[in-house]
Amino acid sequence: MSVQENSSANAAIVAELIRSRRTIHEFLPQQPPPRELILRGIELARWAPNHFLTEPWRFYLLGPQTAAAIARLNAELVSRKQGPDAGQAKLERWLTIPGWLVVTCENSDDPIRAREDYAACCCAIHNFSLYLWSEGIGVKWTTGAVTREPQFYDLIWVDPTVETVVGLLWYGYPAEIPQTPRKALDEILVELP
Ligand SMILES: Cc1cc2nc3c(=O)[nH]c(=O)nc-3n(C[C@H](O)[C@H](O)[C@H](O)COP(=O)(O)O)c2cc1C
Repeated sequence: MSVQENSSANAAIVAELIRSRRTIHEFLPQQPPPRELILRGIELARWAPNHFLTEPWRFYLLGPQTAAAIARLNAELVSRKQGPDAGQAKLERWLTIPGWLVVTCENSDDPIRAREDYAACCCAIHNFSLYLWSEGIGVKWTTGAVTREPQFYDLIWVDPTVETVVGLLWYGYPAEIPQTPRKALDEILVELP
């Protein structure tokens, strides 16, 4: 049965998937999820809505060498601001993160198109996250300072005049699932006649 031939069982699964997904901060170390599932997540990500079919997203699946280089770059930044102990602690933590994916968006000189393309990339990231969540894999979308460093772009072989990083995504099996609240619906919903 296709999703369009809807059933209440399908709807309940989708609702639960959306509601239960959480940003995962702690992963089980040394347990990278199967590559096929990550590739399927990327394949599904690109079915996100995108105005004028610009398909502005690009995906950079990082291997351990690149991930470690980014972890070292971040540790340098942290050391400079907070001292070497903080940098070392960050490095050790980042080196345990099992999976790394960077999503970028093609730049545009047209500000409206740039905004719409960024929105489309965000939708793609959420597709990726939701699919992985359905496979029991957690994701953390990060936009920390390191993702804006020229050296970060060098490490992923991206020209910042052509593409901009939308997120560094970490993925892996959750070690813990946090609870995060949401405002009540009546605080955010306005119904007009
Ligand atoms: C654009 C974007 C950037 C984010 N960057 C970070 C980040 O740098 N560090 C972090 O801990 N979480 C980051 N998050 C995750 C949010 O903190 C998280 O989505 C929020 O706390 C709600 O939690 P939930 O995803 O579990 O519902 C980011 C989320 C988005 C959408």
